[in-house]
Amino acid sequence: MDVDAARRAAGEAAVPLVEDGMRVGLGTGSTARWFILGLAERVRQGLTIRAVATSLASASLATEGGILVEELGADGLDIAVDGADSVDPALRLIKGRGGAMLREKIVAASAARYVVIVDAGKYMPSLCGRVPVEVIPFGSARTLRTLAERTSMAFAFRTGPDGRPFITDNGNLVADSEDRALHDPSALAEMIRSVPGVAGDGLFVGMTDLVLIGHGDGSVEQLTAPGDTVASGG
Ligand code: A5P
Repeated sequence: MDVDAARRAAGEAAVPLVEDGMRVGLGTGSTARWFILGLAERVRQGLTIRAVATSLASASLATEGGILVEELGADGLDIAVDGADSVDPALRLIKGRGGAMLREKIVAASAARYVVIVDAGKYMPSLCGRVPVEVIPFGSARTLRTLAERTSMAFAFRTGPDGRPFITDNGNLVADSEDRALHDPSALAEMIRSVPGVAGDGLFVGMTDLVLIGHGDGSVEQLTAPGDTVASGG
Protein backbone atom coordinates (compact mmCIF):
# COMPACT_ATOMS: atom_id res chain seq x y z
CA MET A 1 0.00 0.00 0.00
CA ASP A 2 1.12 3.54 -0.74
CA VAL A 3 0.81 4.76 2.86
CA ASP A 4 1.23 8.45 2.11
CA ALA A 5 -1.45 8.33 -0.61
CA ALA A 6 -3.76 6.51 1.81
CA ARG A 7 -3.19 9.09 4.56
CA ARG A 8 -3.68 11.91 2.10
CA ALA A 9 -6.97 10.39 0.90
CA ALA A 10 -8.25 10.04 4.48
CA GLY A 11 -7.15 13.54 5.49
CA GLU A 12 -8.60 15.23 2.43
CA ALA A 13 -11.90 13.30 2.79
CA ALA A 14 -12.45 15.06 6.12
CA VAL A 15 -12.07 18.57 4.69
CA PRO A 16 -15.65 18.83 3.27
CA LEU A 17 -17.06 18.01 6.72
CA VAL A 18 -16.05 21.49 7.89
CA GLU A 19 -18.70 24.18 7.34
CA ASP A 20 -18.50 27.93 7.36
CA GLY A 21 -18.37 29.42 10.86
CA MET A 22 -17.29 26.21 12.58
CA ARG A 23 -14.81 25.96 15.44
CA VAL A 24 -12.44 23.16 14.39
CA GLY A 25 -10.00 20.99 16.33
CA LEU A 26 -6.82 20.23 14.37
CA GLY A 27 -5.05 16.94 15.02
CA THR A 28 -1.36 16.11 14.92
CA GLY A 29 0.71 13.85 12.69
CA SER A 30 1.26 13.01 9.05
CA THR A 31 -2.42 12.25 8.31
CA ALA A 32 -3.77 15.31 10.14
CA ARG A 33 -1.26 17.33 8.11
CA TRP A 34 -3.21 16.53 4.92
CA PHE A 35 -6.43 17.65 6.61
CA ILE A 36 -4.84 20.93 7.73
CA LEU A 37 -3.40 21.61 4.27
CA GLY A 38 -6.79 20.93 2.66
CA LEU A 39 -8.56 23.14 5.18
CA ALA A 40 -6.06 25.94 4.58
CA GLU A 41 -6.87 25.74 0.87
CA ARG A 42 -10.58 26.19 1.64
CA VAL A 43 -9.78 29.13 3.93
CA ARG A 44 -7.88 30.77 1.06
CA GLN A 45 -11.03 30.28 -1.02
CA GLY A 46 -13.13 32.14 1.59
CA LEU A 47 -14.15 29.64 4.28
CA THR A 48 -14.33 31.32 7.70
CA ILE A 49 -13.40 29.12 10.64
CA ARG A 50 -11.65 29.30 13.98
CA ALA A 51 -9.30 26.49 14.94
CA VAL A 52 -7.67 24.97 18.00
CA ALA A 53 -4.48 22.96 17.46
CA THR A 54 -3.47 19.83 19.40
CA SER A 55 0.25 20.58 19.13
CA LEU A 56 2.63 23.42 18.51
CA ALA A 57 3.59 21.77 15.20
CA SER A 58 -0.02 21.72 13.98
CA ALA A 59 -0.54 25.29 15.18
CA SER A 60 2.45 26.43 13.07
CA LEU A 61 1.29 24.52 10.00
CA ALA A 62 -2.22 25.96 10.30
CA THR A 63 -1.05 29.52 10.90
CA GLU A 64 1.32 29.35 7.93
CA GLY A 65 -1.67 28.23 5.85
CA GLY A 66 -3.75 31.23 6.92
CA ILE A 67 -5.98 29.42 9.44
CA LEU A 68 -6.89 31.43 12.54
CA VAL A 69 -5.63 29.42 15.54
CA GLU A 70 -6.80 30.28 19.03
CA GLU A 71 -6.95 28.83 22.55
CA LEU A 72 -9.63 26.29 23.40
CA GLY A 73 -12.54 28.22 24.85
CA ALA A 74 -15.17 27.14 27.35
CA ASP A 75 -17.74 26.57 24.62
CA GLY A 76 -15.77 23.79 22.92
CA LEU A 77 -15.70 22.91 19.23
CA ASP A 78 -18.04 21.87 16.45
CA ILE A 79 -15.73 19.25 14.98
CA ALA A 80 -12.27 17.81 15.59
CA VAL A 81 -10.28 15.76 13.07
CA ASP A 82 -7.22 13.74 14.03
CA GLY A 83 -5.15 10.70 13.12
CA ALA A 84 -4.60 7.56 15.20
CA ASP A 85 -2.12 4.71 15.49
CA SER A 86 -4.60 1.84 15.82
CA VAL A 87 -8.39 1.68 15.33
CA ASP A 88 -10.70 -1.25 16.09
CA PRO A 89 -14.26 -1.99 14.87
CA ALA A 90 -15.73 -0.41 18.03
CA LEU A 91 -14.02 2.86 17.00
CA ARG A 92 -11.61 2.63 19.92
CA LEU A 93 -8.17 4.14 19.35
CA ILE A 94 -4.56 4.08 20.39
CA LYS A 95 -3.04 7.52 19.86
CA GLY A 96 0.13 9.34 20.83
CA ARG A 97 2.98 8.11 18.67
CA GLY A 98 3.70 11.82 18.19
CA GLY A 99 3.35 12.45 21.92
CA ALA A 100 0.40 14.85 21.60
CA MET A 101 -2.28 12.57 23.11
CA LEU A 102 -3.15 14.70 26.13
CA ARG A 103 -4.03 17.80 24.12
CA GLU A 104 -5.58 15.55 21.49
CA LYS A 105 -7.90 14.02 24.06
CA ILE A 106 -8.91 17.38 25.52
CA VAL A 107 -9.74 18.59 22.00
CA ALA A 108 -11.57 15.36 21.08
CA ALA A 109 -13.68 15.53 24.23
CA SER A 110 -14.53 19.18 23.48
CA ALA A 111 -15.88 18.49 20.00
CA ALA A 112 -19.49 17.82 19.10
CA ARG A 113 -18.20 15.51 16.34
CA TYR A 114 -14.90 13.64 16.52
CA VAL A 115 -13.59 12.34 13.18
CA VAL A 116 -10.56 10.05 12.92
CA ILE A 117 -8.49 9.75 9.74
CA VAL A 118 -6.21 6.75 9.18
CA ASP A 119 -4.60 4.66 6.48
CA ALA A 120 -6.04 1.17 6.09
CA GLY A 121 -3.04 -0.46 7.76
CA LYS A 122 -4.15 0.97 11.10
CA TYR A 123 -7.61 -0.63 11.10
CA MET A 124 -7.43 -3.90 13.04
CA PRO A 125 -9.78 -6.48 14.61
CA SER A 126 -8.44 -5.47 18.02
CA LEU A 127 -6.28 -2.56 19.14
CA CYS A 128 -2.62 -3.32 18.82
CA GLY A 129 0.59 -1.45 19.62
CA ARG A 130 2.33 0.52 22.33
CA VAL A 131 0.13 2.57 24.64
CA PRO A 132 1.68 5.99 25.35
CA VAL A 133 1.21 7.46 28.82
CA GLU A 134 2.05 11.09 29.66
CA VAL A 135 3.84 11.24 33.03
CA ILE A 136 4.68 14.35 35.02
CA PRO A 137 8.43 14.64 35.81
CA PHE A 138 8.05 14.59 39.61
CA GLY A 139 8.50 11.01 40.85
CA SER A 140 8.53 9.67 37.29
CA ALA A 141 10.67 6.60 38.09
CA ARG A 142 8.16 5.59 40.76
CA THR A 143 5.24 6.27 38.41
CA LEU A 144 6.83 4.03 35.77
CA ARG A 145 7.22 1.18 38.28
CA THR A 146 3.62 1.54 39.50
CA LEU A 147 2.32 1.57 35.93
CA ALA A 148 4.08 -1.72 35.25
CA GLU A 149 2.80 -3.30 38.46
CA ARG A 150 -0.83 -2.26 37.99
CA THR A 151 -1.07 -3.19 34.32
CA SER A 152 1.30 -6.20 34.25
CA MET A 153 2.89 -4.62 31.18
CA ALA A 154 6.42 -3.35 30.67
CA PHE A 155 6.78 0.43 30.25
CA ALA A 156 9.81 2.47 29.16
CA PHE A 157 10.35 6.20 28.87
CA ARG A 158 10.45 7.44 25.29
CA THR A 159 13.62 9.08 24.05
CA GLY A 160 14.13 11.43 21.11
CA PRO A 161 16.51 10.91 18.17
CA ASP A 162 19.29 12.49 20.27
CA GLY A 163 18.81 9.87 23.01
CA ARG A 164 17.46 12.42 25.48
CA PRO A 165 14.04 12.04 27.16
CA PHE A 166 11.16 12.97 24.86
CA ILE A 167 9.33 15.98 26.33
CA THR A 168 5.74 16.77 25.40
CA ASP A 169 4.37 20.22 24.59
CA ASN A 170 3.16 20.19 28.23
CA GLY A 171 6.68 19.66 29.62
CA ASN A 172 6.03 16.04 30.61
CA LEU A 173 7.59 12.63 29.81
CA VAL A 174 6.04 9.83 27.79
CA ALA A 175 6.12 6.21 28.96
CA ASP A 176 5.31 3.67 26.23
CA SER A 177 3.97 0.23 27.06
CA GLU A 178 5.26 -2.92 25.42
CA ASP A 179 3.87 -3.61 21.95
CA ARG A 180 0.92 -6.00 22.13
CA ALA A 181 -2.74 -6.61 21.27
CA LEU A 182 -5.16 -5.10 23.81
CA HIS A 183 -8.08 -7.37 24.66
CA ASP A 184 -9.76 -5.02 27.16
CA PRO A 185 -8.78 -1.41 26.43
CA SER A 186 -11.32 0.03 28.91
CA ALA A 187 -9.95 -2.01 31.81
CA LEU A 188 -6.39 -1.08 30.84
CA ALA A 189 -7.33 2.62 30.64
CA GLU A 190 -8.80 2.42 34.13
CA MET A 191 -5.62 0.84 35.53
CA ILE A 192 -3.39 3.44 33.87
CA ARG A 193 -5.52 6.35 35.08
CA SER A 194 -5.44 5.04 38.67
CA VAL A 195 -1.69 5.77 38.91
CA PRO A 196 -0.79 9.14 40.49
CA GLY A 197 1.63 11.02 38.25
CA VAL A 198 -0.18 10.04 35.07
CA ALA A 199 -1.35 13.17 33.23
CA GLY A 200 -2.95 11.44 30.25
CA ASP A 201 -2.88 8.40 28.01
CA GLY A 202 -3.36 7.38 24.39
CA LEU A 203 -6.42 5.14 24.85
CA PHE A 204 -9.50 6.81 23.34
CA VAL A 205 -12.61 4.78 24.15
CA GLY A 206 -16.16 5.90 23.42
CA MET A 207 -15.09 9.20 21.84
CA THR A 208 -15.10 8.62 18.06
CA ASP A 209 -18.10 9.42 15.85
CA LEU A 210 -16.64 8.65 12.43
CA VAL A 211 -13.51 6.97 11.06
CA LEU A 212 -12.32 7.67 7.51
CA ILE A 213 -10.05 4.88 6.29
CA GLY A 214 -7.86 5.78 3.33
CA HIS A 215 -6.47 3.28 0.82
CA GLY A 216 -3.43 3.55 -1.40
CA ASP A 217 -5.63 3.86 -4.51
CA GLY A 218 -7.23 7.03 -3.10
CA SER A 219 -10.53 5.45 -2.07
CA VAL A 220 -11.92 6.08 1.42
CA GLU A 221 -14.18 3.95 3.61
CA GLN A 222 -16.36 5.38 6.35
CA LEU A 223 -16.73 3.53 9.61
CA THR A 224 -19.67 4.92 11.53
CA ALA A 225 -20.83 2.12 13.79
CA PRO A 226 -19.21 -1.04 15.17
CA GLY A 227 -18.17 -3.18 12.23
CA ASP A 228 -20.13 -1.11 9.70
CA THR A 229 -18.09 0.26 6.77
CA VAL A 230 -19.47 2.15 3.80
CA ALA A 231 -17.34 2.61 0.67
CA SER A 232 -17.11 6.14 -0.67
CA GLY A 233 -15.47 7.84 -3.63
CA GLY A 234 -11.78 8.05 -4.32
C1 A5P B 1 0.08 12.28 17.79
O1 A5P B 1 0.43 12.25 19.12
C2 A5P B 1 -0.64 11.03 17.44
O2 A5P B 1 -1.73 10.74 18.23
C3 A5P B 1 -1.03 11.01 15.98
O3 A5P B 1 -2.30 11.57 15.77
C4 A5P B 1 -1.01 9.60 15.55
O4 A5P B 1 0.24 9.06 15.95
C5 A5P B 1 -1.17 9.47 14.05
O5 A5P B 1 -0.07 10.03 13.41
P1 A5P B 1 0.21 9.73 11.87
O6 A5P B 1 -0.98 10.22 11.11
O7 A5P B 1 1.46 10.46 11.57
O8 A5P B 1 0.39 8.24 11.75
